[in-house]
Amino acid sequence: MTAGLRQVVDDAELRRIYDGLLVPSFPASELVGLSWLLDGVARGRAHVVSAVADGRPVGAAVTEELVPGARLLSYLAVAPDQRGTGVGSRLLDSVLEEARGDGTRLLLAEVERPDRHAGSAQHGDPAARVRFYARRGARVLDLPYVQAPIRAGAEPVPGMLLLVLHAEPGVLREGGAAVDGPLVAAAVEELVGTELDDPWLTDLRRAARRRVVAAPPASDWRTVAASVERW
Ligand SMILES: CC(C)(COP(=O)(O)OP(=O)(O)OC[C@H]1O[C@@H](n2cnc3c(N)ncnc32)[C@H](O)[C@@H]1OP(=O)(O)O)[C@@H](O)C(=O)NCCC(=O)NCCS
Repeated sequence: MTAGLRQVVDDAELRRIYDGLLVPSFPASELVGLSWLLDGVARGRAHVVSAVADGRPVGAAVTEELVPGARLLSYLAVAPDQRGTGVGSRLLDSVLEEARGDGTRLLLAEVERPDRHAGSAQHGDPAARVRFYARRGARVLDLPYVQAPIRAGAEPVPGMLLLVLHAEPGVLREGGAAVDGPLVAAAVEELVGTELDDPWLTDLRRAARRRVVAAPPASDWRTVAASVERW
């Protein structure tokens, strides 16, 4: 049965997606709390599309606004028993179509570097994930990306990549090989905050403050310098 896609705003349905799809698909260090999701949707900051088959959510995509014009694909997850059947591709295509239609200038995604994260059957294979996005034209920002602590007291997650899933022509530079620096810097500051005095985050903020940021194809992720292993 082909799953139908629909926007989700209802709290009960958001809980089902959170418990049934996001919790099993992401390590705790990369998953926000349920209250973030409920609050974000209620305030119109987060947007959730779900794929439904036989009355149950089998996949979901969560996006959030970072700064005006820049959004993050915060989560894309497919139920383990449905992976590899095209549900993830359909969800991603719908997110990309929406970004092209609603004036999003830059759509980003945080993914694990395949050379720094092993992945698992449950949480997925980092190399397969990068291939999945690369097939749809994703590029990778030349930044030593680190995911900010997901909640108070948590640790940053180094060894990440910040992908560009969609960029409108106005933010591309150098014939499409780079992206407008100030928009990237604003998005990165929103992602990692400005208050935490952490060497990984300080390094990242500094790297993001450039006139342009190179963005090779995501398949060339090895050319992007990784965050230092440890401080
Ligand atoms: C990544 C994911 C959303 C893809 O959804 P899907 O419905 O399985 O994808 P499709 O069937 O449309 O496309 C298949 C492609 O997905 C990717 N994929 C498949 N299984 C995967 C897995 N376990 N982990 C990561 N990527 C996977 C591969 O690129 C695959 O193509 P390939 O067989 O040529 O390598 C899904 O595997 C998943 O939920 N993984 C766990 C959570 C995750 O990694 N989310 C993305 C990070 S934001």
